[in-house]
Amino acid sequence: MSIPLPSAASPVSLSRRHWLACASAAAAVLANPSSRSARAQDLVTLPDGKLLIVRTPRPLNAEPALHRLAERWITPLESFFIRSHGNVPQLDAAAYRLSIEGLVERPQTLSLDELAGRFPQVDQTATLTCAGNRRDEFAFPRISGVPWNAGAIGNARWTGIPLRNLLEGCGLKPEARHIWFEGADQITDHGTTFPFGGSIPIERALAGNDHTGLPLLATHMNDLPLTPSHGAPLRMVVPGFIGARSVKWLTRLVVSDRPSPNHYHADAYKLLTDDSPDALAAAHPIHEYVLNSVIAPPEEGLRPRDGHVSVRGFALAGGTAGTSLRRVEVSADDGQTWTTARLVSPTRDYCWVLWQATLPITPQTRSVCVRAADSTGQIQPREMVRNLKGYQYNAWHRVALTNS
Ligand code: MTE
Repeated sequence: MSIPLPSAASPVSLSRRHWLACASAAAAVLANPSSRSARAQDLVTLPDGKLLIVRTPRPLNAEPALHRLAERWITPLESFFIRSHGNVPQLDAAAYRLSIEGLVERPQTLSLDELAGRFPQVDQTATLTCAGNRRDEFAFPRISGVPWNAGAIGNARWTGIPLRNLLEGCGLKPEARHIWFEGADQITDHGTTFPFGGSIPIERALAGNDHTGLPLLATHMNDLPLTPSHGAPLRMVVPGFIGARSVKWLTRLVVSDRPSPNHYHADAYKLLTDDSPDALAAAHPIHEYVLNSVIAPPEEGLRPRDGHVSVRGFALAGGTAGTSLRRVEVSADDGQTWTTARLVSPTRDYCWVLWQATLPITPQTRSVCVRAADSTGQIQPREMVRNLKGYQYNAWHRVALTNS
């Protein structure tokens, strides 16, 4: 499909009134950390029509109530989480330029019209998930960072230019090994201000095919121009990798012989159990997301009926190329017995799957849990070893029954 690139960024900004609404909603959520499910009063309508639970108002981080995620395979824009580390830039599409630098034969600076005129556009459906999703489930003490429940995930149809075509158009030099991405946002940390960034290895940049797995310079999400909060007018989408590598408000692309030195690649988004400089230097930046599955309880809670409980949710295979979901299982007796769930959505590489199951329960049943397995032989663990930043949580997801 070919969609014209946006000629102007939609002028959405958060007014003071909205920020106050976000702040008070976030304060209510933070004051009650034990409330894992969304209550109606936690939901905030954001200026671009989103109905989300604000986890932090500044920077803006917000996720949908879980029941909304299990309703549609393609996550509607209003239910798609927002993860930002700094400001949400309002870029003027007419003045926008992308610079391509480093180990290329023909460095260039291109406008949106030039990008659209020179390169083909493709559609790809892919799930985006934050590495910190489900952080809130790590055992006490609470891990710092955005206190995500399980909604920092969504599945969208992305339209854009394959990164591979752009790189081929610029001519890769033989020493090229990594592609760095840099956004237009500015983050101030410990007295310095810098843009968000990260990189992917060249093999990942060039992999994928016309149907799936292509890293894209995306301009559209679910057939609509990107909104500012999702990276307008141009963002990366790297299927299979944690959301942090899908850099929004992309303004600079550097081809290099080494990984990005940006803080969000070199320091953050690593699995660490010890915070010594040696451990940080030795740890690899996280690339692929992990196998996961989540129960999405109805708004009114998980209520048994006639000795049974019906559950539904979503599951995602690990992000390594060629990995697919093998099964999703639910248990009402804490993992002593498992029932295989029905998959009720398309099953496509790099995309989540929606599932449903009905389970018999007994008077002793207190909760239901889910686990999934994928084609690499991985199966979600009962518990998970803690890491300092609370990334890649994928232990069995549990939801208590609501009996009243
Ligand atoms: N890109 C920029 N420039 N700045 C950011 O803060 N956050 C990243 C990624 N790209 C981020 C960014 C993270 S951690 C995630 S999970 C995804 O954007 C979230 O994308 P979304 O807000 O469109 O859902």
